Amino acid sequence: KNVSIIGVGMDLGADRRGVDMGPSAIRYAGVVKRLEGMGFSIKDIGDIVVNRPNQLVSTDHHKYLDQVVEANTTLAAAVSKEMAEGRFPLVLGGDHSIAMGTIAGVTQHVKNLGVIWFDAHGDLNTGDTTPSGNIHGMPLAASLGLGHERLVNIGGFAPKIKAENVVVLGARDLDAGERALIKERGIKVFTMHEIDRLGMARVMEEAIAHVSKNTDGVHLSFDLDGLDPHEVPGVGTPVLGGISYREGHLAMEMLAESDVLVSAEFVEVNPILDRENVTARVAVAMMSSAFGDKLL
Ligand code: ARG
Ligand code: MN
Ligand code: MN
Ligand code: MN
Repeated sequence: KNVSIIGVGMDLGADRRGVDMGPSAIRYAGVVKRLEGMGFSIKDIGDIVVNRPNQLVSTDHHKYLDQVVEANTTLAAAVSKEMAEGRFPLVLGGDHSIAMGTIAGVTQHVKNLGVIWFDAHGDLNTGDTTPSGNIHGMPLAASLGLGHERLVNIGGFAPKIKAENVVVLGARDLDAGERALIKERGIKVFTMHEIDRLGMARVMEEAIAHVSKNTDGVHLSFDLDGLDPHEVPGVGTPVLGGISYREGHLAMEMLAESDVLVSAEFVEVNPILDRENVTARVAVAMMSSAFGDKLL
């Protein structure tokens, strides 16, 4: 497989600064060597430029709307270009708002895209429901066609994905508006309750079946805060009681075995809040499993 690495030094979608250094931290953790060691051909296209104003700008409940739209539009084009050349896009964040651009690029090639949203959060807010105004809490809603029209239309078309083709994995902090939306649209969510109760193996069997049904490929959107913050302290919005390192690996190994992935992104790595770059190193470990690394 040919893989293109695309960094997005974006942190304007989140309240805490520092995830803009996520791509550097993940590169420093050795992503290129690790994947090359597995036999992949890696092309690192570098980072998408993000314009950073020197003070907060907020447009009707959306902080830094212009900058987020602009960077995601550029990202969508970059992802689409790499895929047109037959390469698998591996996007390094950056805050989770960049999923809008990644998905906008991927869906130019994969019409019916399934999505695994690995996250402590739903990222299903809109301008009407957001408690924070932070756009990283909105990308899944926007990709479903819900929310601000400028977010919804990134890449020039909408919606990108269907609610029935999405699985959220690891949720444990959902806002009231997000819970209402999940029920209204029937979005499949495996919260920590289901993971504890059924075990990760059974949850992943069901999750993979769900996102593979009636789709032509699956995107993995991996927010590091889906994992437990004891194992990955370098995230801006930690929530206790998350997915363990072992469960995370199992989930990624099962995804690799199913051979459905067409694209992936790893987001919300914040080296300022980290210790010894462990969060980026765990991100690289999770990637290697998602790309099919095996112990034997
Ligand atoms: N639900 C909260 C909000 O809308 C937190 C979102 C956190 N999202 C993330 N990608 N870490 O602000
Ligand atoms: Mn997220
Ligand atoms: Mn999150
Ligand atoms: Mn919350």
